[in-house]
This record gives sequence, C-alpha cells and structure tokens, in this order.
Amino acid sequence: MLRKTRHFARGRAAAAGRIDAANSSNLKYRLDVPAALRLPFDGRGNAPQLVAARKQERASRKRDAGAGCPTTGGYMAEREGRCALRNEHSNEAGQASWELEGGSDADVFRTAMRRMVGGVTVIATRHAGRPWGMTVSAFTPVCMDPPTLLVCVNSRTVTASDILRDGRFAVNLLSQAQLHVSQLCSAAGSDKYVDDHVVPAALLPSRVVMPILRDSTVSFDCKVAEVRPVGSHNVVIAIIESILAPMSRRPLLYGEGKYLRGVGIDDFATVERA
Ligand SMILES: Cc1cc2nc3c(=O)[nH]c(=O)nc-3n(C[C@H](O)[C@H](O)[C@H](O)COP(=O)(O)O)c2cc1C
Repeated sequence: MLRKTRHFARGRAAAAGRIDAANSSNLKYRLDVPAALRLPFDGRGNAPQLVAARKQERASRKRDAGAGCPTTGGYMAEREGRCALRNEHSNEAGQASWELEGGSDADVFRTAMRRMVGGVTVIATRHAGRPWGMTVSAFTPVCMDPPTLLVCVNSRTVTASDILRDGRFAVNLLSQAQLHVSQLCSAAGSDKYVDDHVVPAALLPSRVVMPILRDSTVSFDCKVAEVRPVGSHNVVIAIIESILAPMSRRPLLYGEGKYLRGVGIDDFATVERA
C-alpha cells in the first residue's frame, strides 16, 4: 500500500509539473494504482504529461529501430551522435565498406594513426652542452611503482643519440602556449636548441638535471632504465626522478594531422545550448 501511495503521489507531482517529463518515462507505477485513485489521470494512473512523454519516446524508438546501429539498434546511437559510423560500416547492399582497410602496411597504419588524438611532449636532452628538444607524441606512463614512463624515438634523430649517450632526458608535456616550441622541435634536420624556452637552473630544485621547458603542463626528469630498438624507433623506458607541474595550463593536443585544443564535452554542450 505504501508503494501505491508513493506512486500515486509521483503521478500527482508529474501532473502538477513537479516531475520533469523527460525523466518521468522511467517511473514504474501504473499497474499498482487502485482504480479509485486513477480517475483524475488517464484511466491507468498516468498523468497527462507522462502519457505525452511516453508516446513521444515510443515514436522515437520506433523511428530509430530500423536504423540498425550494431551497438544499440540506433536509439542511443542517434542521441550520442554515433549514427554516422553506423552508415559508413555498410553500403546499400549490406556489404562492409571501410574508408581505410589494410594489413601490415606502413602507409595505412600512418593514416590510421592520424585518427588518434593525444597530448604532445618535447623530449629535452643536452646536445653540445646546450638544451635540445624533440617533439614526440609517442609517450605513455608505464607504471606507478616505481614511477616509470616510455617514449618512442626515431633512432636516427639527434635526440636518440643524446639519450643513448647520457642515459638521461626530460619529458615536457606541452601546453597550448608552447605551440611554437612544438613546431621548432619537430623540424627534421634543423637545429632544435631550446635555450630560450627553458626554466633557468636557479629556479629549479637542485635534484633536477635535465632541461625543463617553461609553460609545460608537467615535466618529468628521467633516468633511462632500458632502450629496446623496434624497427625504426627506440622504445625508451625510463624511471621518473622528479616531477614539476606549475599552476594548471591548457594542454596542447595533436590529431588528424593538426594541432588541436580540447573542449570538455560538458562545456561543448553548454556552448551548443547557448
Ligand atoms: C606532433 C608531432 C609528434 C611527433 N611524435 C614523434 C614521436 O613520437 N616519435 C618520433 O620519433 N618522432 C616524432 N615526431 C617527429 C619528430 O619530432 C621529428 O622527426 C624530429 O624532431 C626530427 O629530429 P632530427 O632533426 O634530429 O632528425 C613528431 C612530430 C610531430 C609534429
């Protein structure tokens, strides 16, 4: 009886506009409501707003059902903007169609990797006694105990030789304010001295030995633990000796062959609604 009373109260609240129509479709109560109490509603205990909301939702499910999204039958896919994928996966004859398809093919892999969006780092070493930087996106944390990271560095670069020689380097995660540093440090074959972009040694804790770039979101001073050559690159695994992070900066991103700024999904929704 308690359940019935509560359900009835919710129906009333909905009728009075106190329950949001969009949420009310989740309410499960109509069968429990005694007949005598249903009269002010639709004959089944439902408030008029609920009836309208349910009708709208049923119509929308029906419309989406034929869409055939493999994950959710189209319903959630359309809400979440995933239906474009659904349409690209098959042509009119129902055969699979891919924009990109390949096996062990470097060009296809390179093109596929353009779809990955990630942060950008500059690996800083010392070259001819001066701070030197190389733009690298192949960076990943490995484990927390001990704090370990890895980077993949083309073995023919100046940076790769610096790392092998000294067994030390710093990883600087770039902020949007460092776009020009990323451009400087990715120009193949040209000098990549970063003297103008480092934090002066006097402002660093004494244990930090490698070049730390100004305006980075975070910097790791590292000691090489292992270098494993894989094809054209060295996978460099390193133990983190020091971590430095200034007040929060906005990260620089790279993907689809260009530099990007991230926008939080919630922020985006706000912009869309505005
Ligand atoms: C956004 C971006 C990410 C890059 N990531 C890597 C990487 O992860 N590993 C790598 O070896 N080269 C990477 N490169 C290319 C190197 O920065 C570039 O080849 C290198 O600086 C050339 O050095 P060198 O003049 O000593 O040959 C990247 C370039 C850009 C623009």
